[in-house]
Amino acid sequence: MTSSPTSSGSYDLVVVGSGIAGLYAALQAREHGARVLVVTKGSIEEASTRYAQGGIAAAVGPEDSPEDHLRDTIEAGAGLVDEEAARILVFEAADRIADLVRYGVRFDSSNGAVSLGREAAHSAARIIHAGGDATGLEIELSLSALAQREATILEHTFADRIIVEDGRAVGIATINGDTGARARYDATNVILATGGAGQMYRTTTNPVVSTGDGVALAYECGAEVMDMEFTQFHPTALVLPGRPVFLISEAVRGEGALLYSTDGVRFMEHAHPLAELAPRDVVARATYAEMARTGSDHVLLDITAKDADWLAARFPQICAQCMDAGLDMSKDRIPVSPAAHYTMGGVRTNTWGETTIAGLFAVGETANTGVHGANRLASNSLLETVVFAKRTVERLFEPGTYDPPPARTEGALSLLPAAGNHTAPTAQQVRDLMWDKVGIVRTGEGLRAAAIQLAQWMAWLPEAHDRTSHDLHAILVCARLATEAALRREESRGAHYREDFPETVEAWRRHLVFRQTNIAALEGANDTDEKERWREHAG
Ligand code: FAD
Ligand code: SIN
Repeated sequence: MTSSPTSSGSYDLVVVGSGIAGLYAALQAREHGARVLVVTKGSIEEASTRYAQGGIAAAVGPEDSPEDHLRDTIEAGAGLVDEEAARILVFEAADRIADLVRYGVRFDSSNGAVSLGREAAHSAARIIHAGGDATGLEIELSLSALAQREATILEHTFADRIIVEDGRAVGIATINGDTGARARYDATNVILATGGAGQMYRTTTNPVVSTGDGVALAYECGAEVMDMEFTQFHPTALVLPGRPVFLISEAVRGEGALLYSTDGVRFMEHAHPLAELAPRDVVARATYAEMARTGSDHVLLDITAKDADWLAARFPQICAQCMDAGLDMSKDRIPVSPAAHYTMGGVRTNTWGETTIAGLFAVGETANTGVHGANRLASNSLLETVVFAKRTVERLFEPGTYDPPPARTEGALSLLPAAGNHTAPTAQQVRDLMWDKVGIVRTGEGLRAAAIQLAQWMAWLPEAHDRTSHDLHAILVCARLATEAALRREESRGAHYREDFPETVEAWRRHLVFRQTNIAALEGANDTDEKERWREHAG
């Protein structure tokens, strides 16, 4: 393990990541007068946040209530939602939207009232949006403009280690992605806000920065990681050769778009009572099944009932992307297929953002607060980032309140063999393996083969020294956690579907939590097998 260089600076708070979670937390901390450093892997605006389309869920409509929002969230989460956390999520929603407005975010309105869209598995129209389908861009640009005035921002720099001394996080070690220069930043507290791990899959809506770094960093400094078997696949991505994967928002189905197989069957009619607005995991699996049945690499999304002007006003980004690909949404059915979209699993926190390591907090997609369970309800993610970032910062500035979630350690995970013909993998090999064997439909045989392959690759991975090798390392750690958890969960629930265990099993209404053990002994150790000693916890 590389030793830390001498300190390059000392802050009250170091935030890793500059999406909505990191920037909102930084701005909140500045309101407490804290000295804040934000470290981010790419440019400040590069984050999943800027690509968010549909919007933010909040029960603010006249016919709606937080209780209804809570019920929908719990229902979508397939038995694993933490009800206390979800209650906080829905009841604090309106105040956090007000914070975003205060920070300059302009949400769409009509006749003086906020415009509300509809998305799958919501019992009411409750999706607040901006610029039609440019919600994330509006948020990212507003918060980053403000944060650049308020905090110290270090771009193109990634955290490659959390520095833990005497059981407490005291800073981060970083590498500059352009120059390779290493630095160390000391901090009273560290917040991980690094987003999801969609890049562990071949086909994903996530940007290149979404390599699961927060999970890998936290796991490797001894924090608990939970629910990694649950990756959400979005059913409607535009996946065309030579073009980046582009999301076609669920809000399009919310406005009446229908799904057809390539031989003309409106398959969701038969798959679920809510048809196209069924929970996301249901639509993704039905889409996958139709693609297999027809032998096609896509199904078709039809919104041609709406005219061109209406579509251009409501979905300007999506219309423009489709047009650029030669598709006129008002005339053509759009070819769509599933893509890895959201990481439900993450660094285990309580409802104050605290991890199981003192001084280390996690917010946003990298955290697991328990609100999403086995399947996130659409547009609850942006909401989760701000609701729990607010509480995290409150906790930081209440001295003496550290009250971490109790550890859930329980038993040791059997080691998977790391023998065989070893070579270091490429990121593409990992992504292909994950897509093929740990994707929408899983089998024990496929998961076991993937777990063994990943263990072998991990054993031969050279130490990360630059952005490429660092990203690969993070992807591989997340892939192993996801695969091992998926192999252990012998049932189907939410986004995790096992062909060999297709039923949901009550005894499995619990969480899988991993923690790397014997961290102190690992400092300076090179024993890869030792690093593979994972422990399973039941929650
Ligand atoms: P991100 O926005 O991903 O930010 C993570 C940041 O961490 C980035 O700046 C990254 O560069 C940085 N980073 C990562 N690793 C490191 C490291 N090692 N060192 C330093 N910096 C690092 N959710 C909704 O609720 N509604 C929607 O409509 C919606 N639409 C979506 C559409 C798309 C196409 C995608 C991809 C996601 C969508 N989501 C939506 C999900 C939502 O956008 C994300 O969950 C949310 O933006 C996550 O915010 P975040 O701040 O946690 O992470
Ligand atoms: C979408 O607009 O379909 C994405 C919404 C989400 O991921 O919450």
